Amino acid sequence: MQLTEGLEYRDGRLLFEEAALEDAADKFGTPLYLYSPELMLERYARLKADFRKLNALLCYAMKANSNLALLKELAWAGAGVEVVSGGELALALKARFKPSKILFSGVGKTRAEMRQALDARIQTFNVESHGEMDALEEEAARMGVKAPVSIRVNPDIDAGTHRNITTGKAENKFGLSIPDALAAYRRAARSWRLEPIGLHAHLGSQILSPEPYRRSAKVLAKMIAELEEDGHLVGQVDIGGGFGVPYGEGERLDTSEVAKAAASLSTPGRRVVVEPGRYLVAEAGILLTRVQYVKRTSDRTFVILDAGMNDLLRPALYGSVHPIVPDRLRPGRPEPLEFVGPICETSDTFGVFECAEPAPGDLFAILMAGAYGYSMSSQYNSRPRPAEALVEEGKLSLARKRETMADLV
Ligand code: LLP
Repeated sequence: MQLTEGLEYRDGRLLFEEAALEDAADKFGTPLYLYSPELMLERYARLKADFRKLNALLCYAMKANSNLALLKELAWAGAGVEVVSGGELALALKARFKPSKILFSGVGKTRAEMRQALDARIQTFNVESHGEMDALEEEAARMGVKAPVSIRVNPDIDAGTHRNITTGKAENKFGLSIPDALAAYRRAARSWRLEPIGLHAHLGSQILSPEPYRRSAKVLAKMIAELEEDGHLVGQVDIGGGFGVPYGEGERLDTSEVAKAAASLSTPGRRVVVEPGRYLVAEAGILLTRVQYVKRTSDRTFVILDAGMNDLLRPALYGSVHPIVPDRLRPGRPEPLEFVGPICETSDTFGVFECAEPAPGDLFAILMAGAYGYSMSSQYNSRPRPAEALVEEGKLSLARKRETMADLV
């Protein structure tokens, strides 16, 4: 059984950052997301160290987990943030991220969102189309301000990840092709109401090899050279996020290699930005769930949990594997069991794991659930969303209340 950092069995019971999972489940009920801010901050510090030489700005992609308690910790630690909606921007400001460290990405920013971000004086709009740039220019003119823009390029690079989370191929909706991005940069430079500050590329998510980053850095370097030849200044280059983590038994992306790949882009006059989401929070969170029933069929044995695909969508949507471990080591021969949720969908399954047969009421932890867990949860099947709690040096505290039936109306 492979445990992630912060988890250990002591006297036969599973602890997360020194707190017994059973205590957390008793206190807040299940399903329950439980996060360790400290594990997240450790990851942040490690990544910062990898990129130290480049003096890079780390902007947390908060779509991975936008729990306000975690956001506040990262803001306090000095991180920047990448947002993709007015809602995320409002949360970023509430968490006290400095506006000078807020980036706004997304192919469909509304004019209201643009005004909200201009009003907040964010650092950069990562612009993804000519139409968006026109709209932003108009809104900036209406407000009598200048909009800082980075042009998102789609470098047509295959990041070797799941097709649903690939963003840097020509067939994807994201960014502008290299010639279009260059033209957009020049067009922004001619505008009274736009201020081009840099280039941006994001290739996809859960990337496990540094190679795509090397290729992307080459493309960006070439574009910068071309723009600078024309007398433009490129003060910032954002290589995106996408740093992969080892679900199941895979390897972790070597982020120091990514930093090396980006090193040539960093100069005294040019800042490198990275936008990690998953990397900071995936392993800092688990989902606690209790067994409802064990059902033996002629084909297999199902363990029916109280957490389902509405609470953690990743296995159903991407076929991703989140290891499931019992709270208590019990005697009995391990056998393959299929862990499923209560939702009326066949895709509501977390997969098959070897485990001694549990009993109803037994507690399990679904690992590496800190990224794209709660943030992608829904009320499907009219199930209120779960609660979120923090564990800090063994102490438990509630970070977001469980939704109630009233929230369904
Ligand atoms: N920057 C941009 C522009 C992005 O679109 C994303 C993620 C990130 C940064 C952060 O990527 P990360 O470092 O977390 O890989 N729901 C999917 C992942 C979707 C990622 C969307 N964009 C999943 O659960 O695997």
